[in-house]
Amino acid sequence: MLSMLTQAMPENIAFSKRPVANTYRLFLPLHPNRIFEVMVYLTRQEHFNAAHKLYNPKWSKEKNEQMFGVCANENWHGHNYDLYVTIKGVPDAETGFLYDVKKLSILIKESVIDKLDHKNLNMDVDFMADKMCSTENLAIAIWQQLAPQLPKEVQLHCIKLYETQRIYVEYFGD
Ligand code: NI
Repeated sequence: MLSMLTQAMPENIAFSKRPVANTYRLFLPLHPNRIFEVMVYLTRQEHFNAAHKLYNPKWSKEKNEQMFGVCANENWHGHNYDLYVTIKGVPDAETGFLYDVKKLSILIKESVIDKLDHKNLNMDVDFMADKMCSTENLAIAIWQQLAPQLPKEVQLHCIKLYETQRIYVEYFGD
């Protein structure tokens, strides 16, 4: 089925000009009564190191240690965070690219990485102030920092944040 579609594509592809920017929506007439719009996803990986502690000031020291264990250590601890930023959209008709990955990397660096890397998340980061510095809250905050910076032709799809190699959080903007 897939090979049949691939062979049929050159004759059956229909383009319609998109109202914004110099991009085109690509339609594949897979079935006479159904038109699918092509959507691709692009992911950029970044990395940062940061210190934090998980400590709820409304609770006793004992309750914090019971809930957060070593992460409640008063004198902080660090993580090597891996960040995966996924955007989605329609490839540009002339470049075939969804978005310039160098520009994407600069946007992520300026709006997120520069503010987090080698910082104390609880004390140094304005957009984490008064929040519990969990990986969940950090992923949401990264989304809120980055989403307004992206151009209209692409959408933020997912923030995936690894706290360790075996623990990660995904946020889809819901
Ligand atoms: Ni931690």
